[in-house]
Amino acid sequence: MQGKRVLLIVSGGIAAIKIPETIRRMRERGLNVRCVLTEGGAQFVTPLSLSALSEDKVYSDIFSLTDENEMGHINLSRDADVLMVAPASADIMAKMAAGLAGDLASTVLLATDKPVICAPAMNVRMWEHPATQANVELLKSRGVIMVGPDEGDMACGEYGMGRMAEPDMLVKALEDFFLAAPRPLEGRHAVVTSGPTHEPIDPVRYIANRSSGKQGHAIAAALQKLGCKTTLVTGPTNLKDPVGCDVIRIESARDMLAAVEKALPADIAVCAAAVADWRTSNAPDQKIKKQAGSAPPSLEMVENPDILSTISNAGNKRPSLVVGFAAETDDVIENATSKRERKGCDWIVANDVSPQAGTFAGDDNTVHLITSGSAESWPRMTKTDVANQLASRIAQHFEAAE
Ligand code: CTP
Repeated sequence: MQGKRVLLIVSGGIAAIKIPETIRRMRERGLNVRCVLTEGGAQFVTPLSLSALSEDKVYSDIFSLTDENEMGHINLSRDADVLMVAPASADIMAKMAAGLAGDLASTVLLATDKPVICAPAMNVRMWEHPATQANVELLKSRGVIMVGPDEGDMACGEYGMGRMAEPDMLVKALEDFFLAAPRPLEGRHAVVTSGPTHEPIDPVRYIANRSSGKQGHAIAAALQKLGCKTTLVTGPTNLKDPVGCDVIRIESARDMLAAVEKALPADIAVCAAAVADWRTSNAPDQKIKKQAGSAPPSLEMVENPDILSTISNAGNKRPSLVVGFAAETDDVIENATSKRERKGCDWIVANDVSPQAGTFAGDDNTVHLITSGSAESWPRMTKTDVANQLASRIAQHFEAAE
């Protein structure tokens, strides 16, 4: 863990008295620790002791001109590899769940795209309250890692769940995090397209397709987990935003192209969106009305820009690895192999999207990875597994090139 940077957010609670000891153990393991202390936290532990042990400044005031000049509240989290909230009071977790940003600690937590570990600490009844339990579940579903709480005697004289995990356990949680999470794509940037596009017929009607966005979103999440800064450009879907990705929502193919071009430069592009091949050439600004006795309107179609081809041929803006998908219903490998050459991308992930394959709305995918020299067939697996496997192949590609 030598040299890894932890931003330790100390919120209010008697367990804050264990934090100086926790910092000492983190420092023994080679971690760099910088502290944010809430007003509540400062009732239990002094900024001076945290500063002495972390050998760094302690931040507590969002409106401090000096702090903003020196560091800036956004840079506090940008500078860290991980954020740890310890103790995580019921109050700070409720703020995180609701997205409140009324003080420095909650603002940093709302603004961060870094992984967050919480060590809850509170009275047993507060811990068991449905509001706290719902907040904890919500935070977990967003990727927040929880350590503890433990069961035991509490400072308030009661017994039960709610004691903060011991300093050794907090250090172990960081160790698990850093060891379990190799970040081979740290320092790289990926742009991923996902979902369908909607092409307007008029202001209220559109042409769409059956793409769910599950595969593209899973790829963005998998790349992000490997430490890659990931920009997800997505058409309309019902999916939650993958944790830690920058998500840009668009509607049409032309919007998607503009968003992708704006997101460049990138090292990696993965085009998993089911972009509409055509749009209507004459979408009016007003709703098309039925005219009694006249024929239905006819739609004149024009071709949309091809995003994959455009970025594959983007000269010095071309990402060094461009991966496309090939949605095929027949002769999957042959069609995908020629599609790779036609579009100018490096790899193509070919999948069978015939209705019987169930790829479009389903959770599974059967794909073939086509590179310049080979076509490799992967067994049927979940879209999440396809995404993780593809992300680790991408990481291997960059490792081999170094
Ligand atoms: N693609 C794109 N922009 C488009 C059309 C497709 O970026 N306007 C990308 C898709 O995201 C995918 C790849 O091109 O990565 C192939 O998409 P696919 O629908 O299989 O191919 P098409 O180019 O549409 O060809 P066809 O429909 O004739 O098979």
